[in-house]
Formats: sequence, C-alpha cells, structure tokens
Amino acid sequence: MTAAGVPHSYIPFSLFLLLLSSSSSHLYPGTATAEKQSKTRSLHSEILRDEAVARLNDLGKVSDADGYLERTFMSPASVRAGILIREWMEDAGLRTWVDSMGNLHGRVEGMNTSAQALLIGSHMDTVVDAGIFDGSLGIISAISALKVLKSNSKLGELKRPVEVIAFSDEEGVRFQSTFLGSAAVAGVLPVTALNISDKSGVTVQDVLTGNSIEITEESLLELKYDPASIWGYVELHIEQGPVLEWTGFPLAVVKGIAGQTRLKVTVRGSQGHAGTVPMSMRRDPMAAAAELIVLLESLCKRPREFLLDGGNCDEYSLESLSTSLVCTVGEISTWPSASNVIPGQVTFTVDLRAIDDVGREAVVYELSNKIYKICDRRSVSCIIERKHDANAVICDRELSARLQSAAYTAVHRMTGEIQEEVPVLMSGAGHDAMAISHLTKVGMLFVRCRGGISHSPEEHVLDDDVWVAGLAVLAFLESHM
Ligand SMILES: *[C@@H]1O[C@H](CO)[C@@H](O)[C@H](O)[C@H]1NC(C)=O
Ligand SMILES: *[C@@H]1O[C@H](CO)[C@@H](O)[C@H](O)[C@H]1NC(C)=O
Ligand SMILES: [Zn+2]
Repeated sequence: MTAAGVPHSYIPFSLFLLLLSSSSSHLYPGTATAEKQSKTRSLHSEILRDEAVARLNDLGKVSDADGYLERTFMSPASVRAGILIREWMEDAGLRTWVDSMGNLHGRVEGMNTSAQALLIGSHMDTVVDAGIFDGSLGIISAISALKVLKSNSKLGELKRPVEVIAFSDEEGVRFQSTFLGSAAVAGVLPVTALNISDKSGVTVQDVLTGNSIEITEESLLELKYDPASIWGYVELHIEQGPVLEWTGFPLAVVKGIAGQTRLKVTVRGSQGHAGTVPMSMRRDPMAAAAELIVLLESLCKRPREFLLDGGNCDEYSLESLSTSLVCTVGEISTWPSASNVIPGQVTFTVDLRAIDDVGREAVVYELSNKIYKICDRRSVSCIIERKHDANAVICDRELSARLQSAAYTAVHRMTGEIQEEVPVLMSGAGHDAMAISHLTKVGMLFVRCRGGISHSPEEHVLDDDVWVAGLAVLAFLESHM
C-alpha cells in the first residue's frame, strides 16, 4: 500500500536484513530447447504464467477513471472487478460469496471440512493512477495455483480448507481508512467505521447499502472469523521496493511489516501583507513548517543523536531504528496560498515507519517535543494530531519457513538450478496481513518488481516472475496435502 516510491535510503536497511548470499544467478530459462519446452509445459505455464498475466492485464483495465487505473472501495469498477475475480475463482473450483464488507471469498473444502482453514489473500482496490500488480498479483496467483490443482483433480487431496479472499479495501483511498476489508474479517474494525464518509459525504454504510449489501453493527461483528477455525494467513505481494531486483532473486520471504504513525501538524501564525510586515515582526507558519520538516529529516536520518539525550530508548531499539526508520512529509497545504500573502496557516502530514514499536514511539515523542520548542521560539502555534497508528507485525517463523521452502522449490523447478537461500526482507509498506495478524499467524512472500516502482502505471512484474510466484503458491499448497 502506502509505500509509494520507497526512498533510496531504504536500500541499505533492507540489505542489512537480507539473509542472502548475493550472487545474482539468472532465473529465466534461456533458449527454448525441446527439453525445456516440455519441462515448461509440465510446470503449468499456461495457467500460472500465460493465463495469470492475461488476467492481470484484464483486471488492470477495470477502472473508474478514463486513461488510468483507479478502483476504490465498492466503486462501480470495484464491483465489476469483483465479478471478474469471482468467475476466475469458480473456474478454479472454488465456492464463492461476498461478505457484508464487500470482501470476495472463494473456498475449497479439501478432505476435511472441519480442519483449520488456510487463508490466502490480498486486496482488489487500488490507489489513484495505480499499477496492475499491487494486490491483484496475490489474488490471481492463488487462484491460478488452485486451478492447477483442480486440473490435476487434486483439490480433494488438500488436508485443510483453503480460502482465497480478495479484500475490498486496503489502500484506504476513498475513506482514508485502510484495511476496511481485512480488519472486518479479523474483527478489529470499529463499528464507528461504518459512519466514516468520503469526500461527497457518502458513508461506508451508504456505499454498501447502495450495492445491495446490508451491513449493520451486528453483521459487522459477525464478520469476524473464529480464530480456532483458521490455521494461518498467507499473502503474496509485489515488493514495491528495489531490493529483490538488485539481488537478482524473483522471490523473498517477508520477516515482518514495519509499524507506522501518521501525524497531521498544523502551524498557525499571523496572516499578513507580503510587502508591509517587516521580517522582525512576522509570525510566519511557512518558514516554521520548513524548519520542522528539516528537523524531521535530521531526526530520522540520525535517530541515535537525537534520542540518546532523551534516554527513553534502549540500545536494541536504537539499533533497529538506525536501520529501519523512514519518515516522509508527503502533503502540505497552506492558507490562503497566494504569492503576496504571508500565510496564516500551514498544515503538513508526517508518515513515520519503523520495525521497532518502542523506538517509533520514542521518535514520535522526541519529535513532538522538538516541534513545540521550535513553535514557541517562533511564536507560532502548533497542533500535532495523531491520525493513525499501526504496530509492527512479525511474521510467523514456521509459516515463513514453509514459504521459504516453497519459494525455493518454485525457483528450483523453474530453472533446474540449485539456488542459494531465498532472501528475507522487511516490509516498509503495510499489507492486509497486518490486520489479519490480529486473527491468526501470518506469512508473506514478496515478488520482484521492475525498478522497485509501485503505485504507478510504471509498475511491472516479468511474466516469468508471475509464473514463479504461482509456482511458489502451488508448492506451498502441496505442503498441505
Ligand atoms: C479433521 O479435522 C479435525 C479438526 O482438526 C480433526 O479433529 C479430525 O481428526 C480431522 N479428521 C480427519 C479424518 O483427518
Ligand atoms: C452512526 O451515525 C448514526 C446517525 O448519525 C448514529 O445513529 C449511530 O449511532 C452512529 N453509529 C456509530 C457506531 O457511531
Ligand atoms: Zn498492495
């Protein structure tokens, strides 16, 4: 989701965490010999590569906008996308339904209906001017892998039910509230979420009702899955960063997802005429905001320097912060925004992420203190609002080990070569797995994307990487047979 353009300084941190030998062996089949062609056929390339790529392209055309991709929560295009995905789920032999938050489910029971179910999911909504792989790849590769099992008459051999979920909202574009879909399934969506309204004043509840989905506070609570009925959750997602491409690997196992705090900082000063108020008599919120933003950058580049005096952060957190902390001011607005007026008010957002929750808290605390001091010195008033908090999520060890072995098998089957260890990365972006971690153990696989670019029409995954992603899900499913 919100990792648009993972900053460059993120590379060293991720590499720091890589457990890999950094050879960049090439993972694409070379010239197509007859032997390779027949091997290719046996690796279900028609379903896992050709059809999956075609479906990604088809789904990528389902948009509310003209000329670019945009699908927000329960929009007309989202509903059409749901119909398409539902057909593909049924084509793979899954029983399907839509729940009262608009999530689409496809389930196969396997040999034991009462065994704990494996959930595999990702989101079907997109950002504005999105790429076609974010979210969709995780849904489509899961459906394709199950279709392979169906075509081999093996769905009945699954030891446990497998349920693919296409979540209705992860990006939070329409209601500014991420994870509406997965948080409902995990039972952590507050009922007040039904009353959130979008820019046109339509609430979440209105939108669902408008799509003939009855949602009440009671039915929202009933959406929560019984943790005892679930074995675990797996999500495959594009990396949205540049590390995998750099290492030459198509797949990585995700070790954990960074926690996040979003702040809104409002600076109020004294609005005035740009020509008549002497510099010494100004209370300019724009200059103050500039100083605050540079302060944020310094603090996040060198947390150690700033926090050591604070004394409220232990060595472990400091170490983790210095390799994982990333901070961004992505939005700034000013009033009245005219070239000849000293602004009266400037508002900007802060997005702050780190793997260590204690460390992140210490940074927010230190940042707030420093902001208030600077505002006092400049005689402007500052308000800091905490808009969003999410704790870091650490992926389950056993589940990750299985995913790692599935990724290994997939790469090995495709190239015939013995690969080195599969890389392990941290995720700076949030994913549905964060919400689902409140329900059950989670594990994730990352798929390489070109240039690390995401949340952009430039987002791209090689056809063969789509294939190896499908093979990895297939190998993972085979470990449940
Ligand atoms: C089916 O799963 C349930 C719940 O885990 C278990 O108690 C039961 O033994 C399983 N049945 C078979 C035939 O494996
Ligand atoms: C939602 O808004 C309605 C109407 O304003 C109100 O009656 C209801 O209590 C609100 N529900 C929640 C959960 O806030
Ligand atoms: Zn995503």
